[in-house]
Amino acid sequence: MGLTAGFHSRRRRLLMDKMGPGAAALVPAASERIRSNDVEYRFRQNSDFDYLTGFPEPEALCLLLPGHPDHEYVLFVRPRDQERETWTGRRAGTEGAVQIYGADAAHPLAALDETVSALLADREILYYAMEGRGDYNRRVLAWVETMQAQRQRSGQGPTAVHDLRPLLHEMRLFKSEDEIEAMRRAAVVSCEGHRRAMSRARAGQYEYEVEAEIEYAFRARGASAPAYPSIVAAGANATVLHYTENCCRLEEADLLLIDAGAEVEMYCGDVTRTFPVGRRFDGRQRALYDVVLAAQEAAIFEIRPGVTVEDVHEAALRILVRGLIDLGILQGTVDENIADEHYRAFYMHRTSHWLGKDVHDVGVYRLQGASRKLEPGMIITVEPGLYLAEHSGAPPQWQGIGIRIEDDVLVRESGFEVLTEAAPKEIDEIEALRRDA
Ligand code: GLY
Ligand code: MN
Ligand code: MN
Repeated sequence: MGLTAGFHSRRRRLLMDKMGPGAAALVPAASERIRSNDVEYRFRQNSDFDYLTGFPEPEALCLLLPGHPDHEYVLFVRPRDQERETWTGRRAGTEGAVQIYGADAAHPLAALDETVSALLADREILYYAMEGRGDYNRRVLAWVETMQAQRQRSGQGPTAVHDLRPLLHEMRLFKSEDEIEAMRRAAVVSCEGHRRAMSRARAGQYEYEVEAEIEYAFRARGASAPAYPSIVAAGANATVLHYTENCCRLEEADLLLIDAGAEVEMYCGDVTRTFPVGRRFDGRQRALYDVVLAAQEAAIFEIRPGVTVEDVHEAALRILVRGLIDLGILQGTVDENIADEHYRAFYMHRTSHWLGKDVHDVGVYRLQGASRKLEPGMIITVEPGLYLAEHSGAPPQWQGIGIRIEDDVLVRESGFEVLTEAAPKEIDEIEALRRDA
């Protein structure tokens, strides 16, 4: 049994039990992607593949054959190759796939087309996710087509291809203890980055310098990478939801919105903080910040088993709308504004998403047509914001302010646990850090 085989083998066992003995599952690893000419992006493993195997190399394929007497778990991998390894790095090869990663059998990728049909021959159902992998989709369909064409004579081979995602992603939605521990580490490192940024950003710097500070903290604590492109948005840039240019100068009067999270052990943090570039929030910034913080805290306090993501959103939304009305930015009543969606000029996204190996993690949000209930082990973000862009129709004195506050929250039997508490969000705490910056 290999280093990582414990967690992964439990997950494979559970998945195979759900699939049943007549089934097979194919799960491809990620492939390398070109960034420019012949140079690749840094490799990041596919989350489903990593969840089931822990095998860190590109191009591999996992085949699960529940109930097989000799090899329930087969890996196809790049073979050892001294020449290639000298250029592009070490490979586990077929031996490592067995000895280190716990595969029952491993084959070189070159043998895939000929071997896979034989291995699938006695399986009725093939589980496979037809997603974003055009190359593999075509190959898998070709295998199935060949086997189905031969079925009249052979009398065997899969007669159905089922989507693997409903089974696998439902598992991924519920984090086990080992995953929660990894999420805690991702959260802690993410918060450390935010504290560093909050205590170092100064007027006259550029957004990219703050990006460098936060990502320094991530990497220095062992994060593999930012979990997504860091958003470091000063002033009106914060009203652009996915602003990632990070190229502007910080002005004393700006707020700085930073949405950045660390990826640690293949789990994501996703944290947003907004703070003044100067030492203190000014009157309008403070007024809006208070509204967003109140909305965020109310939404977090909603979280417990049995409530829905919709309920959490609703809790945040009501407070955001109430605040916008009280500040004279919206007119009418809370209910009217929610019904006619006038608030969408200033709050145009949802409050939560699942969080895990993918920053927008897998798992369905609705079951049987209704928003699903939260259950222990789920992890969601809570990230209300207000964005008063120049074109938003906000009164001119409010324009150019964008605020979001985002935490990562574990649903527990007893309610909730905020994993990202170490990043300050109360005005007093933030201003105390800013005084010393
Ligand atoms: N950083 C991406 C998000 O907050 O959803
Ligand atoms: Mn998020
Ligand atoms: Mn975020």
